[in-house]
Amino acid sequence: MAIREVLKMGDPRLLAVAAPVANLGTAEFEALLTDMWDTMRHLDGAGLAAPQIGVGLRVVIFEVDHNPRYPDAEAVPRTVLINPVLTPLGEDLEDGWEGCLSVPGMRGLVPRYRTLRYTGVDAEGRPLDRTVSGFHARVVQHETDHLDGILYPRRIRDLRQFGFSDALFPGEDLADD
Ligand code: NI
Repeated sequence: MAIREVLKMGDPRLLAVAAPVANLGTAEFEALLTDMWDTMRHLDGAGLAAPQIGVGLRVVIFEVDHNPRYPDAEAVPRTVLINPVLTPLGEDLEDGWEGCLSVPGMRGLVPRYRTLRYTGVDAEGRPLDRTVSGFHARVVQHETDHLDGILYPRRIRDLRQFGFSDALFPGEDLADD
């Protein structure tokens, strides 16, 4: 296990479309998941996608305990989501502030579907099928975007609502996530 370097916006590897996971259950894949958890926890992130550590596979992880950095965010269960497929339920979009470990120190206001269904498999290959809304839905959309080479700044509708966390939210202890 190891804490891996997180690639930053500008690295072309973050723009690539990741490949479906085909080596589920191998020692190599288990080691990847361990590194992803170690890296995410070390950086106090809410989620991480494999391309952010330079691995072009369709796997994301996320977990939000009640986090002082997201005082209004509901908890999201610890999840490994492999080969995800997202289906928005309804047209409703909701704006919310996002950050990203690949865009450190910044925040942007991003519209996301309020409610969606996501399917895929977990680390043991068991099917996942969840219908979620709010912050959970936002996290899944943000992380899955990484698998298609999309970083959240591309989703911002009004770039006046994009900036450095400490300038946008002076006095708040916001980390990078
Ligand atoms: Ni991100």
